[in-house]
Amino acid sequence: MTFAGRHVLSISDFARADILHVLASAGRLEREPRPDLLAGRLMATLFFEPSTRTRLSFEAAMHKLGGRVIGFSDVGSTSTKKGESLADTLRMVEQYADVIVIRHPRDGAARLASEVSRVPIINGGDGANQHPTQTFLDLYTIAKLFPRLVDGGEPLTIAFAGDLRYGRTVHSLLVALCHFGVRVLTVAPRGLEMPDTYLNHAFTAGIDVEPVPSLQEAVRRSDVLYMTRLQEERFPDPLEFGHIKASYRINAAMLAGAPAHLRILHPLPRVNEIAIDVDRTEHAHYFAQAGNGIVVRQALLGLVLGKM
Ligand code: CP
Repeated sequence: MTFAGRHVLSISDFARADILHVLASAGRLEREPRPDLLAGRLMATLFFEPSTRTRLSFEAAMHKLGGRVIGFSDVGSTSTKKGESLADTLRMVEQYADVIVIRHPRDGAARLASEVSRVPIINGGDGANQHPTQTFLDLYTIAKLFPRLVDGGEPLTIAFAGDLRYGRTVHSLLVALCHFGVRVLTVAPRGLEMPDTYLNHAFTAGIDVEPVPSLQEAVRRSDVLYMTRLQEERFPDPLEFGHIKASYRINAAMLAGAPAHLRILHPLPRVNEIAIDVDRTEHAHYFAQAGNGIVVRQALLGLVLGKM
């Protein structure tokens, strides 16, 4: 398989073998850093929406491979403010950079960018749609914790909790997990359940998705509890948001009966849904998860730029 020149837009574009290749490449880079791999290459980060982890870990990844970085994270400082279209912005940046990472509030923006750009586009999150590089790092994290995800054996039970309707990370991750024979539990406030399109995808792949009524049940039955924040910026009704926010929060006391091997993941940022006291438990793994973003994004950059 070749990754050179390939766009990274949606996890649905990647077969199981592709995913395993990315994970193996990330593992190699973690064991054997390649500080000159992308020397002379330039990455542009176009962030039309706020980000801490995705942008900074892409930038760190590029620097650690010897490449250089240009970009913006404040759209107000760009000519978008003067009315320049996304397509025209891309037509310019593709002439400056060898690879472009884009985050945008509109679903499908990364795919639109790929139709304009001659250089690889990497989707750093588009609206409530997809966040494929987060999914690669989530899978890398789960496979490091539980090698049987990829090696086979007793299926893992993965629980998704929180805002499953607007949370793009859970959409991408559910699609990817369909390659790996897991069991899925979901726990979400009414109206924020996993959209049918993703449930249908799982059903077609033979993946069992079981809604459960409480976080406590998810804690008791899972190997991995994947928490998400409520996406306030995508919520139509602020009053409804305030009401629901209090009901999806996990704390250390709720983990008293958890299996010892349970690990809690979260794409971050967290807001209210994981109490600080969880950080001190053996179950908290979300900061290590975010740390895995560096090698996984290094691998993606090395692959799409044809260097791995
Ligand atoms: N997980 C994630 O996408 O974080 P940021 O929004 O900070 O990039």
